[in-house]
Amino acid sequence: MDKPVYILNGPNLNLLGTREPEVYGHETLEDLEARAAKKALSLGMGIIFRQSNSEGELVDWIQEAGREGAGLIINAGAYTHTSVALLDALSSVNIPAIEVHLSNIFAREDFRHHSYISKVAHGVICGFGPPGYEFALEALQQQIRTN
Ligand code: DQA
Repeated sequence: MDKPVYILNGPNLNLLGTREPEVYGHETLEDLEARAAKKALSLGMGIIFRQSNSEGELVDWIQEAGREGAGLIINAGAYTHTSVALLDALSSVNIPAIEVHLSNIFAREDFRHHSYISKVAHGVICGFGPPGYEFALEALQQQIRTN
């Protein structure tokens, strides 16, 4: 695969490790990146791994992934449940996207049950913690191959 896969992380995910560990576990964002990098290497994929607390920056990166990436994995954090801008950005790019959540959003508060992103995601992986990012890479590789 020539082009890299973008893995984008939204607000507050920079605090993983200390943020509500009973919900999100003890691994840091750096740990997640290391997991993803190792998995990607084994799959022969390149990754670009980023995090931002800013909705606009995530929009810019989705657009960049559309130009320069083979696919996209996104954990949009709380913007999942609020952001028409992220939905529009994902609708505007021609690459497969997989939505990831560490926690099982359907087992949590009602406001987390709706995702703007699921509408345009190829699939959703949620509730498996950090391995969810590795599952998403496998799923994305299959999706890119069959596209
Ligand atoms: C999250 C779930 C969201 O509801 C929450 O706002 C997050 C993290 C997850 O990975 O479980 O910030 O996307």
